[in-house]
Amino acid sequence: MNEPTITRRSLVTLSGTLAAPSLLRSRQPSHTVRIAFVGTGNRGTYLLRTMLQIPGVQVVAVCDIVEERAAKAAELVSQAGGSARVWTDFRKMLDEQKDIDAVVQATPDYTHRDVNIAILEVGKHLYAEKPLALTPEDCRMIVRAAEQAKGIFQVGFQLRHDPRRNAAMKFIHGGGIGRVLLCHGIRHGGDLPRQIPWYFDRTKSGDILIDQGIHILDLFTWAIGSHPARALASGGTDLFVNEPPGRTVMDNYSLIFEYPGGQRVNFSHHYFDPPGFTGIRELVFGSEGAVDLPAAAWQPRTKKGLIKLEVADADKSADYMSLAAFLENIRSGNRKPLNDAHSALRATLQAIMGTRAIYERRIVTWEEVAGSA
Ligand SMILES: NC(=O)c1ccc[n+]([C@@H]2O[C@H](COP(=O)([O-])OP(=O)(O)OC[C@H]3O[C@@H](n4cnc5c(N)ncnc54)[C@H](O)[C@@H]3O)[C@@H](O)[C@H]2O)c1
Repeated sequence: MNEPTITRRSLVTLSGTLAAPSLLRSRQPSHTVRIAFVGTGNRGTYLLRTMLQIPGVQVVAVCDIVEERAAKAAELVSQAGGSARVWTDFRKMLDEQKDIDAVVQATPDYTHRDVNIAILEVGKHLYAEKPLALTPEDCRMIVRAAEQAKGIFQVGFQLRHDPRRNAAMKFIHGGGIGRVLLCHGIRHGGDLPRQIPWYFDRTKSGDILIDQGIHILDLFTWAIGSHPARALASGGTDLFVNEPPGRTVMDNYSLIFEYPGGQRVNFSHHYFDPPGFTGIRELVFGSEGAVDLPAAAWQPRTKKGLIKLEVADADKSADYMSLAAFLENIRSGNRKPLNDAHSALRATLQAIMGTRAIYERRIVTWEEVAGSA
């Protein structure tokens, strides 16, 4: 298929706004940021490896309640030419190691409220994994702590920084597809990681919409530009019943959100896929055409042929860009990151809203979860 590239000049013409210049090319690091990692399991180790590739960073501490995991993380830091102290108690680490500027938190979802608030209260910059927390009340406590904190607070909705999705979103927000009407998403794959038991306990992970589906819902709500008004949903456990033993999370659900402006999101998430059927789709339909977010391409309504959007830093991962943005925000004092406390609050509340709609088998409204948010 012929896929013309849309240039920056034509993007400006279409959208009326120029994409922000690349973060990575914007400046050399003005000073080294000293980082501690709290939670060096699956995700923390991955983020650590990514962080170690970014210029201007020194990882000075690693902490995990399982000492062996923290020690392995320290070994990765050594291999990259650095040196990190090993801790098993992050509060003691914050008390005693005074050279830490910023913390990356990658602990299980049920710990986020206490860990985040403790880190924010001592004035460190914090990159905290999603979801914000598991209840609306806990989410709001974290947002209040972030508002009062000295440090920058950024949340692990890294897909906002994915070069392709980010370019696609700028195009949408610039009016490239006209009025946004509907977002359609699927996240179909194999089951959750069996080696990490807390994912399978709903009281610890919030279930698969709050823990996993949340990323795509965050993107769609960002595209639409407001929170949903109502959630209609249905889901359950139909294949992996009591697998692993004691499982309390679903293996599938389908969800519709209605928005105050009349837009809709429909989203299907399941773990039933045999090999070859796995996939993620994130499509945004508008009055003038539709955008495929991960492909950074759009299809006008009136003309044949998919048009690729210009993508800056196309060779960089979403995680790299999100962590690099965190460092830039620290250096520049930007207290409004793209994935800040408020966007994370909205994403988490809508995931809680959808989860309630499934479990309570009824339509759930935004007001029920949002309180004064
Ligand atoms: N943004 C993403 O795409 C993405 C992807 C995967 C996971 N995550 C998130 O990352 C977080 C961690 O997930 P994971 O898959 O790495 O789980 P994991 O269980 O592999 O790792 C969590 C680690 O935190 C440690 N831990 C628990 N309490 C602690 C505490 N008080 N202090 C220090 N360490 C503590 C555990 O021992 C474990 O090693 C979760 O919030 C998850 O939702 C995000």
